[in-house]
Amino acid sequence: MAKKINIGTLISGGGTNLQAIIDACAHGQIDATILFTGSDNPGAKGMDRARKAGIDTFVVDYSRIISACKQGISDADLPRDFDLAETLSKQKLVSNDAANGQAHFFIKSRAIAERQLLDQMAAYDDMDLLVLAGFMRVLTPYFIDRINTEPGQFRIMNIHPALLPAFPGTDGYGDTFRYGCKVGGCTVHFIDYGEDTGPIIGQKAFEISDRDTLDDVKRNGLEKEWELYPACIQKFAESL
Ligand code: GAR
Repeated sequence: MAKKINIGTLISGGGTNLQAIIDACAHGQIDATILFTGSDNPGAKGMDRARKAGIDTFVVDYSRIISACKQGISDADLPRDFDLAETLSKQKLVSNDAANGQAHFFIKSRAIAERQLLDQMAAYDDMDLLVLAGFMRVLTPYFIDRINTEPGQFRIMNIHPALLPAFPGTDGYGDTFRYGCKVGGCTVHFIDYGEDTGPIIGQKAFEISDRDTLDDVKRNGLEKEWELYPACIQKFAESL
């Protein structure tokens, strides 16, 4: 048995991966305790799954924060420990032209939201791993560097609905299906400064037949995700 690790979880939607992780913890398939479930989306259905399992929850409403930022961002709105030049130079999410106002807005508004995530998570200073379980927001180096505090040690895991490095982005199964792939899959990887570019921990593949619809692909893919994610978290626990 591996050392029991403490994990935090972030979700945006239905939370079926979160449920698979809750169940795997309950059945002893993962040596882990879930400390909290956070969401960027006040309407995320998956939050009920967390509450039902007695897990602490919190919401940082990204849409509201980004709308407020569109009215203007003053220096006083930014986190006190935020450095725009440093974050821009590290990030690989948006075009990195120093004079690009859109990039500045993107990074600043996300850092404001991320500060709120960090504030909510501060109570859980014994967290070993942050698990993104259908969390549909990218994370900037401002946030990542405050979780990955040991050089070279990744502590944020993500599940992606495609066989990376193919089809990064927000619609992995849709992109796989529309390309006409005969094999689809899912990938668990660590988060780095790019979008879906971090080191791969595990993958599972499935065949796509000519009769399959996009809904079939999504259903088959999710079933693989529910096996893969707990296995990758357990692999992490065993590596400590
Ligand atoms: C899953 O298919 C997951 O791979 C995907 O969102 C879905 C969440 O489902 N994640 C991403 O696309 C991340 N970029 P769930 O809320 O039922 O776990």
